[in-house]
Amino acid sequence: MVRAAGLIKKFGAFTAVDGISFEVRRGETFGMLGPNGAGKTSTLRMMSGLSPVTAGELEIDGIDATANPRSVRDVIGVVSQHDGLDPDISVRDNLTVYGFYFGLDRDTARRRADEVLDFFALRARGDDSVDDLSGGMRRRLSIARAFVSRPRLVILDEPTTGLDPASRNRVWEQLAVLKNSGVTVVMSTHYMEEAAILCDRLVIMDEGRVLGAGTPDQLIQDLAGAEAAQVRPEEGRREDVQRQLKDGGHDVSDIGAVFVVHGSDGQRADLSTISGARVTYRAANLEDVFLTLTGRGLRDE
Ligand SMILES: Nc1ncnc2c1ncn2[C@@H]1O[C@H](COP(=O)(O)OP(=O)(O)OP(=O)(O)O)[C@@H](O)[C@H]1O
Ligand SMILES: [Mg+2]
Repeated sequence: MVRAAGLIKKFGAFTAVDGISFEVRRGETFGMLGPNGAGKTSTLRMMSGLSPVTAGELEIDGIDATANPRSVRDVIGVVSQHDGLDPDISVRDNLTVYGFYFGLDRDTARRRADEVLDFFALRARGDDSVDDLSGGMRRRLSIARAFVSRPRLVILDEPTTGLDPASRNRVWEQLAVLKNSGVTVVMSTHYMEEAAILCDRLVIMDEGRVLGAGTPDQLIQDLAGAEAAQVRPEEGRREDVQRQLKDGGHDVSDIGAVFVVHGSDGQRADLSTISGARVTYRAANLEDVFLTLTGRGLRDE
């Protein structure tokens, strides 16, 4: 569905996307996981036909997106990081107007609007003003809008940022149902849990580059071992413990209160000889993958 090769986005002299390559298969949910400024939005905007490609190749559903960004816009649905809903018209009208933009006639646009309102559990709020919706409902509406035109590919930029856990779960549920209906989804996120739950495959991005790619399980297995150890030094033993870990040749990330130690070859690190610290093991996750790849955490401190 999508093929990017050596894709570059520059803003003046600044390179936001630095020659990335990836492929998205039909029907899969594909994720871009990375911290603030990684280049996720810049990449998604090029894929959405909203921002010109500086260099490299980008093909969307057989269309050369570098030459025909307009044609791309006709075949995909886009949910941007900022919702872009019209607060002056009703919830339902936000959807019908969007349908007109895609060339639907009045009746079809209305019918489609009601279908997606049902699907996103917003039917009861159809006549309300957008301003009266909660943050979670607004987000659902902006996602719903992308489906009015029955796109085969939907691009979602941080679909659940700022939502409370209940609303986030709601969005996850609906994205899972959409996936089962055969829609291809490309989404960005900086929640590793979201990426692990929703994405069939993903790329890990940082500073405009792709650092790793694969299924969540593969990435965790290959780059973080099956389990990560959290090593919490006792009072006054921090430097001593750090030295012991270093001498043991361990893969250590210092994240402040604890050291995170990753295993290798799918085995957890053996820390039985470490003294002056409490060691606990937990299942490794994508955050650990990011730590191993960059030495930094995913979130801004
Ligand atoms: N229009 C622009 N003009 C100049 N620089 C830009 C512009 N848009 C983005 N950038 C820069 O490009 C880099 C990547 O930004 P981008 O928005 O793609 O990151 P992101 O991964 O989406 O981050 P976030 O998680 O914060 O949304 C950043 O350093 C940003 O400041
Ligand atoms: Mg962004």
